[in-house]
Order: sequence, then C-alpha cells, then structure tokens
Amino acid sequence: MKPILVSGIQPTGKLHIGNYLGALKNFVELQNSGKYQCFFFVADLHSLTKEYDPKEKPKQIENLILDFFAAGIDPKKSVTFVQSAIPAHSELAWILNTITPFGELLRMTQFKDKSGAAPQNINAGLFDYPVLMAADIFLYNARFVPVGEDQLQHLELARTLTRKFNSKFGKIFMEPFPVMTEVPRLMSMDDPTHKMSKSRPEGCLFLDDEPDVIRKKITRAVTDSETEVRMDVERKPAISNLMRIYSAMTGKNFMEIEECFKGKGYGEFKKALAEAAVKGLAPFQKKKKELKKHRAALQKIITAGNKKASVIASKKLLTIKRKLGLSAFS
Ligand code: ADP
Ligand code: TRP
Repeated sequence: MKPILVSGIQPTGKLHIGNYLGALKNFVELQNSGKYQCFFFVADLHSLTKEYDPKEKPKQIENLILDFFAAGIDPKKSVTFVQSAIPAHSELAWILNTITPFGELLRMTQFKDKSGAAPQNINAGLFDYPVLMAADIFLYNARFVPVGEDQLQHLELARTLTRKFNSKFGKIFMEPFPVMTEVPRLMSMDDPTHKMSKSRPEGCLFLDDEPDVIRKKITRAVTDSETEVRMDVERKPAISNLMRIYSAMTGKNFMEIEECFKGKGYGEFKKALAEAAVKGLAPFQKKKKELKKHRAALQKIITAGNKKASVIASKKLLTIKRKLGLSAFS
C-alpha cells in the first residue's frame, strides 16, 4: 500500500503565492508523483479561530475548493473534502486534548503570534488549534504532511502525541513527517523580515491578482541597497525573496538568474519578474474562471470526497474509542 499523505488549508481569504509555492504546488506535485495516497481538505473548523463573518464563510470555502482544483488537485487521484463535514475530526481532537500537555501548547509560536495580532479574540480554539490538526492527520494514518515552515512546530506536537498515545493505549498512530518545498517560507513583498501572510495583505501577491495588479505590486516591492541581482539572504533579503518567486515561475536556478541580470539592475529584473508572474499565474486563473461555471459538479465532487473521508475517519475513530474503553455502550 502507498504511504498516506494529508494536508489542509484554512479558508480565511485569498491564497497568496507563498501558500502556493510553500504548500499547494507541492500538493499537486506529490499527488501527480503517484507515490502517495493523498487527502486534501478545507480546514474550515480551524478557520473559526479567526474573526469571521458567517455570511462570507461559504464563499471562502468555495473559493478554496476552486483554488485546489484550479491548481491541479484532481479528485480522481486525491480525496478532497471539507473538514467540518466529518464529525470525527472534532471528536478525536477532544480525545487528544486529554493527553496533550498544556505546557506544549503554551510553547507554540503561532499561538503567540496570532494572539498577539488579535488580542481582542484570544479564544481557546486558537490555543487548541494544533490538537485539531493532529486529529486531522491521525484519522487518515498519514505518514507525510506537506506544509510550509510555519507548521513544523505543530507537526512536532503531533509526533509527541503519537508517542504518548501509543505508549499509553497501544500502537495505533503513526508519526507524521513534514514535506517541504524549496520555498518553505516566502517573505512579504513589503517587508522581507515578515513571512508573506494573509493577515498582512499589503505584502502579498495573490493567486487571483489581475495582471495589472501583479505588475504594480512587483514594481512597488521593496528592494535592498546596491543594485546587483544576487542571492544573499543575509545582506539582500528582499531581492533574494523576489528571486525565489522568479525561480519558481521560470524554473531557472539562482545562478542562471544572476547571470541573466548581470549589470542590469533591479528595475529590469522586476519587469521580467512581473511578466513571469503574470504568465505563471495565467493557467491557474483561466482554469479557476472555467471551474466557476460548474458549481453543481464541484458540489458533487466534494460530497463524494466527504463520503470517502468519512468512512475512513469513522472507522479509525471507532478503533481509537475501543482502545480507550469507550465503545461498549455506544
Ligand atoms: P497564512 O499564514 O497566509 O494565513 P495559512 O496558514 O492558511 O497561510 O497556510 C496555508 C499553507 O501555506 C500552510 O501549509 C502554510 O505553511 C503555507 N504557507 C503560508 N504562508 C507561507 C509562506 N509565506 N511561505 C511558504 N508557505 C507558506
Ligand atoms: N494549520 C494549517 C495551516 O494553517 C492547516 C491545517 C489544518 C493542516 N489541519 C492540517 C495542515 C493538517 C496539514 C495537516 O495552514
């Protein structure tokens, strides 16, 4: 049997190119490698930890589903589903809560960052977020989890929980390992000291951005001192970050890019980058527009995905409950 691979993305807004290069692009490549049994889902329960408008949520979920398929996730190859449609996720998260050390959750840098960014909404779900993530992974026996660098600490917790659970109740979970891309942490285009993030839209290049918007954003992207296009993360963090985008869009390596823009300066490089990004995103945008016309079909695909996921997750949950001594009267 092929090893299992699981990942999710929260429907919290438009995806940016960091999400794409750090996660979604990899989902598609791993799927197409044929080496894994893949599950990709919309982490809508996780997204409730952030302030939201219930009227907007269905649109955000649908938009992410469109992003998945437009990027190349193929429901014939991967099970694609919506987390909240599978009650086993919340149920297992509760069970895992009871073996999760409070201190481990307190260490999570994402909790610190997110609660610092939204002090008016530091909810218990935000604190418990990595436990639900572990449940997402365990229900499908995932061995591999493609994510960006910001999720590594959460995966470490999942591995800790695997060991704790297995030693207490018998071997039932597998340790999950991250799979990262060459761009596990793309930086913001307006400040290369911050990760590109939906919570800082000023520094994001969105997958849905129109060609003119892409050109404008790249023209305005911050650069470093000097004028040479060179990969030097320490001394030239902004240009190095733009070079990562250029490399991903064109397939050229950093040496080839340096060679290509020798003596040409930032202006020319940015122009080429803008055109490469416009060209690179065009197929995705075209496919997304096309998919929007077939909403009923999308709905059917997701309903079928939910069903498949539900069968696997319910079965696993039952095995877990048996181990815990909970199944006799249910
Ligand atoms: P955001 O931080 O923008 O809200 P999410 O938390 O929804 O993004 O992340 C979705 C996926 O994209 C995750 O696997 C995450 O690790 C990855 N990711 C997010 N931001 C970046 C980035 N700047 N560079 C690379 N990968 C990223
Ligand atoms: N926490 C991830 C993020 O913010 C989304 C996520 C939820 C996830 N559950 C998961 C990713 C399970 C991988 C596996 O992007």
